Amino acid sequence: MSKKLNVTFAGLELRSPIIVSAGPCTRSVKQIQKLAEAGVGSVVTKSTFLQEEYEEVIRPYAPGRFPDCRPKYVKAGEDTYVYVAGFAEVPAEVWVDSLKELTDKVDIPIIASQIATTKNGHVKMAQLFENAGASALEFDFVCPMPYLDKTELSGIRASLLHPEVLKDVVVAVKEKVSIPVGIKIVYNPIEPHPMYEAIKSSGVDFVHVYYSPAAMSNIDLDTGKPLLPAASGGVTGPMKRLVNYKYVHQTAKALGLEHPHITASGHAMNWRDCAEYMMYGCTAVQINHAVMAKGPGVVSEINQDLENFLTDKGHESIRSIIGMALPHVLGINNFMDTYGQTKGIIVANLIPDRCIQCGVCEDTCPVYAVTLDDEEPAIDKEICVGCGLCVANCPSEALELSNVAYLYELAQTRG
Ligand SMILES: Cc1cc2nc3c(=O)[nH]c(=O)nc-3n(C[C@H](O)[C@H](O)[C@H](O)COP(=O)(O)O)c2cc1C
Ligand code: SF4
Ligand code: SF4
Repeated sequence: MSKKLNVTFAGLELRSPIIVSAGPCTRSVKQIQKLAEAGVGSVVTKSTFLQEEYEEVIRPYAPGRFPDCRPKYVKAGEDTYVYVAGFAEVPAEVWVDSLKELTDKVDIPIIASQIATTKNGHVKMAQLFENAGASALEFDFVCPMPYLDKTELSGIRASLLHPEVLKDVVVAVKEKVSIPVGIKIVYNPIEPHPMYEAIKSSGVDFVHVYYSPAAMSNIDLDTGKPLLPAASGGVTGPMKRLVNYKYVHQTAKALGLEHPHITASGHAMNWRDCAEYMMYGCTAVQINHAVMAKGPGVVSEINQDLENFLTDKGHESIRSIIGMALPHVLGINNFMDTYGQTKGIIVANLIPDRCIQCGVCEDTCPVYAVTLDDEEPAIDKEICVGCGLCVANCPSEALELSNVAYLYELAQTRG
């Protein structure tokens, strides 16, 4: 692997910006060794609890879940699973042996993920993991926190409800350990600012932006039985990535790109998805589904493809694409204000060679700007409002919008 993919993430020197996130692919030494062999930059180990918290909090809250904590998945469409995640098989006190083993067996930084139900629990785990050789810590504030959210059905996560908890925990842990500390959070779309304030003043080294809607599975229509009979599960799938781009962008706008660094997970399946996450502001990208679906080899594929992309585009380093899209994102009001001024300038154009005369553009144009008689479609530029729907619908890539750059210019000049 060339040095082009090297990044410094929250003080860790990574050979690649690809990190495999906490979950089913980072539960054992063997899995992590294979990921290291495949060229991963780092891994975040499966989140675990202190033994006493399993016993005192998790077992009464969720009887029977520990130690039998296997995840369950069902397919729910292309590239989509509905799942119930399960817990780590072993508590933190046992997991430290694996962390120690890893420091001998792999030469990548290991980020240890932890869940605790109290601040002191977090401090205790952080010290255990640092002593066992973890290079950094990630606090899992995205899994349901029994002590803050007792309603099984809500799917609301602790960080969303209680940003002050984030700060409290981070400050207490940073007083006791010297390795970098990160938090994995769910973005709060209604009131994000208290969370950003808490993050900024906490001194945390990285933020992992995550989006996790609660979901239920498809149903066997013959029997009426859901394929996964759980009232609340997680869901993977392509929509998560696009929603998460928004949250990454907003986090980058609120916090900047330098401290804390931003990482994210949400359906990054290939090099392009990873590059896009970075262009929206991530310094490193976390992947899980891609490894669940394709195995560790997907990491080397992504690395190789990213390197090819950098070479093709003349980038010396992956670092130069971090935040590249940010200056080109337009405030939604500015964007909408440009509508009137683009009519007649941004319009649909036909690329005749590609047209198969299917008629989709005529059937779906909302303002009836397209007519297709026996011949190819004719677009009335006086009527066309440049909405782009025909471009999106054309099965043959035979349409494009003209003068799109004008939209960026107009919106940018509005500040
Ligand atoms: C079965 C399963 C178990 C997971 N366990 C954890 C966990 O222990 N800790 C955590 O922070 N995230 C956990 N996650 C979330 C993943 O780390 C990741 O953030 C999420 O799946 C989004 O990335 P993806 O779309 O690439 O899968 C889990 C996800 C799945 C599917
Ligand atoms: S949708 Fe595309 S291929 Fe079909 S008629 Fe219109 S331009 Fe031609
Ligand atoms: S860009 Fe919109 S308005 Fe113009 S032809 Fe296509 S669908 Fe119709």
